[in-house]
Amino acid sequence: MKILYVASEAAPFCKTGGLADVAGSLPPALAANGDDVAVILPLYDMVGQQWREQMTFRGNIYVDLAWRHEYCGLFSLEYQGVTWYFVDNERYFCRGQLYGEGDDGERFAFFSRAVVALLPMLDWMPDVINCNDWQSALVPIYLKDEATRWEEIRGIGTVLTIHNIEYQGIFGDYTVCDLFGLDYGWFADGTLEMGGCVNLLKGAMMCVDHVNTVSPTYAQQLHNSFYAHGMENIVDLCDGKMSGVLNGLDVVSFDPSVDGAIAANYTADDVSGKAVCKAELQRLVGLKEDPDVPVIAMVSRLVSHKGVDLVCEVLDGIMDTGAQLVVLGKGDYVYEEFFKHAEQRYGGQMSAQIAYSDKLSRQIYSGADLFLMPSKSEPCGLSQMIAMRYGAVPIVRQTGGLADTVRSCQLGQEDGNGYVFANYNAYDMLYTINQAVALYRYNSEDFRKVQQRGMTDDFSWGASARSYRDIYASIVGE
Ligand code: GLC
Repeated sequence: MKILYVASEAAPFCKTGGLADVAGSLPPALAANGDDVAVILPLYDMVGQQWREQMTFRGNIYVDLAWRHEYCGLFSLEYQGVTWYFVDNERYFCRGQLYGEGDDGERFAFFSRAVVALLPMLDWMPDVINCNDWQSALVPIYLKDEATRWEEIRGIGTVLTIHNIEYQGIFGDYTVCDLFGLDYGWFADGTLEMGGCVNLLKGAMMCVDHVNTVSPTYAQQLHNSFYAHGMENIVDLCDGKMSGVLNGLDVVSFDPSVDGAIAANYTADDVSGKAVCKAELQRLVGLKEDPDVPVIAMVSRLVSHKGVDLVCEVLDGIMDTGAQLVVLGKGDYVYEEFFKHAEQRYGGQMSAQIAYSDKLSRQIYSGADLFLMPSKSEPCGLSQMIAMRYGAVPIVRQTGGLADTVRSCQLGQEDGNGYVFANYNAYDMLYTINQAVALYRYNSEDFRKVQQRGMTDDFSWGASARSYRDIYASIVGE
């Protein structure tokens, strides 16, 4: 089968979040199963020189978006069994950042239009196109639109993966014709229309053969208005063609036995190196160097849906447990300021690292004993899986992918790999943190067992890649 994966970011080329991890590791896993797989991405200015040196220029075309007529170059390189295509237009993609520009709608409409227009220039015509989130949601719409005139693309199956339903690509109705270059009928018939605006995610949900999201629990939760951000009725409509497939992890990159970014390597059988990592972490981030004090870590965007409010609410209570806390991440100003202030109040016990750093995150996963992730909603979440692989026992709220990856050990469950609380309530969270800290302090043997189960759980892409393959096969009738 020939699979084209369309994403607005993919590691290791360009990354802002979890989508990049998935787009960087699912396609190679699909290719390893024997299919032809290609990924197509925008060629942002932050795609590094080491990759550019490996690229081949494949040619160029001009792409029309309503009255715009834009240059569009195509480059490609081979990496991990996959062909990676890059769409070049410096005006749109050399902005110093991936998103957050005033014309994001235009930039990603251009990208989506380009993906369809470039199909004849790829090595093969795909059987299936898998787009991701609102940035490539126009791909299945343009495909359907073009298919009325272009027979060769009529049979291409389409899948939309939703990584976070909060971001929908909402624009004024004038954009249908003037920006996206579509007939107004696409809006008038309700395909693109939602509450009087254009909603690209909805449009794709209506048009694709299959919708999936990144964990089974989140797929169920999306029928509920608490999680659906206004999309619950559309999710209900899609029920017959919707599923949840848990993300895997790049277990080669995230492997404490070989990771070069951490102070010492270790395995599930011999975690002695973790003590070295802990001492190094405490030194690095200004925590008191003490091997016996449990270190709790958070590596997270500092935004409300990550549950940061709960931590702010009971920070003093967390400090009262005697544990240390290190927070790494950037986000909303109020949270950044809160944690900086907390660091002042609890010098040596609390460290606020207001930054985005892959290296420091690995040093934190390897040095921490416990990992806190109290998300209000969590489509899948990758950090809890990374934490477990690095032997940091997770404390999570039971939602989305967290519920699908962390098994409670609280009531003596034999197979528990972490701590779970159900209600979105700061004191429930604090109670659970206390339980985890107590296990660490007073029952190191059982703590070790919980840690070891997390370290040996299978988070690789194998099973999930097969589920994606089954979805593709079902829609192309293979
Ligand atoms: C988004 C979600 C996160 C998920 C990631 C990859 O970032 O918020 O939960 O793990 O996408 O699918």
